[in-house]
Order: sequence, then C-alpha cells, then structure tokens
Amino acid sequence: MAKDAPSHSGPHHVAIIMDGNGRWAQARGRPRLFGHHAGAKRVREIVESCPALGVKYLTIFAFSTENWKRTQTEVSGLMSLFKRYLMKEARALKEAGVRVRFIGTRDRLQPALAQLMSELETLTQDNDLVHLTVAINYGGRDEVARATKRLAQDVADGRLSVDAIDQETLPKYLDTHVLPDPDLVIRTSGEARISNFLLWQSAYSEYEFIETLWPDFTKQIFANIVANFATRDRRFGAVKT
Ligand code: IPE
Ligand code: IPE
Ligand code: MG
Repeated sequence: MAKDAPSHSGPHHVAIIMDGNGRWAQARGRPRLFGHHAGAKRVREIVESCPALGVKYLTIFAFSTENWKRTQTEVSGLMSLFKRYLMKEARALKEAGVRVRFIGTRDRLQPALAQLMSELETLTQDNDLVHLTVAINYGGRDEVARATKRLAQDVADGRLSVDAIDQETLPKYLDTHVLPDPDLVIRTSGEARISNFLLWQSAYSEYEFIETLWPDFTKQIFANIVANFATRDRRFGAVKT
C-alpha cells in the first residue's frame, strides 16, 4: 500500500505531545519538576505497549525549542531528568527491542546529555521492534529552516537542481527523514494546539486531544485511542466512491 493511502487499520506511527506535567504537580501543591518526574515514569509503559497495538513508530515531544523560555530551575531540572532517564532506561530499551532516535538540535544541550543521546542511538541501532523517537530541543519551524538551509547548500554546491525540488525533496532533509509521517498525533492536557510539533509531517495526521494530564496517561487510555483511530475515515483529500 502506498505510504499515504487511506487505511482503516491501526496507526503505524503515533506521535505524542506529552503535556500537563506542570498542572499535574500544581494540583498536588508540588513543584513543576515533580510533575516532570511523574511524567517520565509513564513513558516506559507506553513504549512497551506499542508492539501489541501494532504501533511500530512512537515519537514523543519531550522539550521544545520554545521551552528554553522557562525558568532556569525548570530547564536545568528537565535536563538532569533527561540524563538520569537515559542512563536508567538504556539497558531496558535495548533488551525490549526498541530503537531510539532523537530529533531536534543538540548544540544547545549539555555535552553530557548529547553524549548519552548518541550512545543510546548507537546501543539500540540494530533493534527493530519499536522505533522510539524523542524530540528534545525540537521545533517544527526550526527543523524546516535547518532543512531548507541544507537544501540550499546542495543547490549552491551543484548537488541538487532547482527544477528537481518538489514535495518529496524537502522531507529528505528533515530530522525525521527515516521515519514515516505520523498517522495519529495525541496531545494530553486539554490544549488543542500543536505547539510547533512535526509541522510538515502531520499534514494529514489524525489528531486526538484529550483532557488527561500526561502523568495520568495509561496504556489503557493509549489502547482506547489507538482502537478509535481504526474507525476514522482518512480521505487524504479524495472523495470516496
Ligand atoms: C509538558 O508539560 C512537558 C514539557 C513541556 C517539558 P508542561 O510542563 O508543559 O505542563 P503544563 O502544560 O504546564 O501543565
Ligand atoms: C509542548 O508543550 C512541548 C512539549 C510537550 C515538550 P508546551 O506546554 O511547551 O506548549 P504550549 O506552551 O502550551 O504551547
Ligand atoms: Mg504545557
């Protein structure tokens, strides 16, 4: 079946905007970082439930290019959490057959974190059961701008002709070039916006905005959303005859 053909089966690639950690903590009278820790703990169960649900690709939004605007306490707490999480989960991810990739840019990240990210990508590079992509310092506009820059450089260097540029060309320069487009994008916490996530890639994704805050997200909720996806009529601009 063509990559963009209508399908009534389950989603092959699910992307999640894991939102609501701060409000979850605030509701308990605790600092925002408490919510981020609780949120991080939800990831393993969701990743582990993917094979049974037929979800081959899972992409999760962990930190956006705009999240640097938060307080230094929150940003550095999140960076420490990412480091600790990657160290703690590396072996389990490898053993569970998960191939991990990161999208976004690493230049602004602490070298120790960037190092752990590269090591985990290498450690899991032969896995193929589930492809987990974590977006850290990722923004869709930044990704498209960076892609355009590299594309322009290829034109300037004579590797690409202007006439050859079409909608198949640009995605080859995106961070996600090895991934299929997401079939389904889930956002928790009741906000109905995409906040700069996978702008190009989600042109025809189905969206599911749910009220649950990310630290309360469970594999049962995930399974229900995935099951609901099968009932959607994806037309991709065509008219059913
Ligand atoms: C999502 O939760 C996690 C990150 C953006 C890192 P938030 O921290 O945005 O939580 P809310 O939206 O303030 O509740
Ligand atoms: C989007 O959530 C980014 C992540 C989940 C990592 P935000 O909480 O940063 O988005 P806004 O500020 O509500 O748009
Ligand atoms: Mg938020």
